[in-house]
Amino acid sequence: MEIVETKDYEEMSILAAEKVIDRVLKQPQITLALPTGHTPVGLYKRLVEDHRKNETPYQDVITFNLDEYTDLSPDHPNSYHYYMNHHFFQHIDIQEKHAHLPDGTARNLDLECERYEELILKHGGVDLQILGIGQNGHIGFNEPGTPLNSRTHVVKLSESTRKANSRYFHSLQDVPYHAITMGLATIMNSKKILLLASGAHKSATMFRFFHEAVTPDFPATILKHHPNVTVIADRPALKEANVTRGM
Ligand code: GLP
Repeated sequence: MEIVETKDYEEMSILAAEKVIDRVLKQPQITLALPTGHTPVGLYKRLVEDHRKNETPYQDVITFNLDEYTDLSPDHPNSYHYYMNHHFFQHIDIQEKHAHLPDGTARNLDLECERYEELILKHGGVDLQILGIGQNGHIGFNEPGTPLNSRTHVVKLSESTRKANSRYFHSLQDVPYHAITMGLATIMNSKKILLLASGAHKSATMFRFFHEAVTPDFPATILKHHPNVTVIADRPALKEANVTRGM
């Protein structure tokens, strides 16, 4: 695992954007898997700036988002559909039909999970998976206790995750109780993984990530079994980590 420490959030975002742009230029038909949350906002901002300035092309890029809440329509301001359009898709030249998110409003959610998983496989799997990390070690919405061999599935969100994400909603009651997420095995199938972490509130999380053995209790630890992971984290997030950094 490669671990890169940056000075701050800005530098983390710039470095992550450089890596993504480099891959998109080398492989214009790349399949990306994308996260939401606060962490990647700066990355998307840099990608949009670069697209405006250098016209990095996204016409042939395919994207799959990691997750989506159930019961929020795509135009709901708290849906991840909305987030992705707002922060990224509407500012680049990606084709709408190439930008995939799970449909959290599907009548049969289990069928929707199967459809999503098959669609990823049909596209030959994910080339570059970008991830954030929840304070309890979740990746996507794979909460503690998720089986390590899970595929795209419906999850019941933990109370700590609902509380953490309630900052984007009017109140805690408005936060959905369920979501669809790519599973841990889906994520592990990606050819390359970029994990981003920022801020002192992630420092205990990053300590556990680096020092705990692989366990469903802290789902992100599964990434230790992946052969091609780069962690880009800022100094506050790594302040307790006690690991060797290097490019
Ligand atoms: C949400 C998302 C995750 C994300 C996590 C961390 O729960 N489903 O994909 O990684 O939050 O969010 P943040 O980047 O805001 O800390």
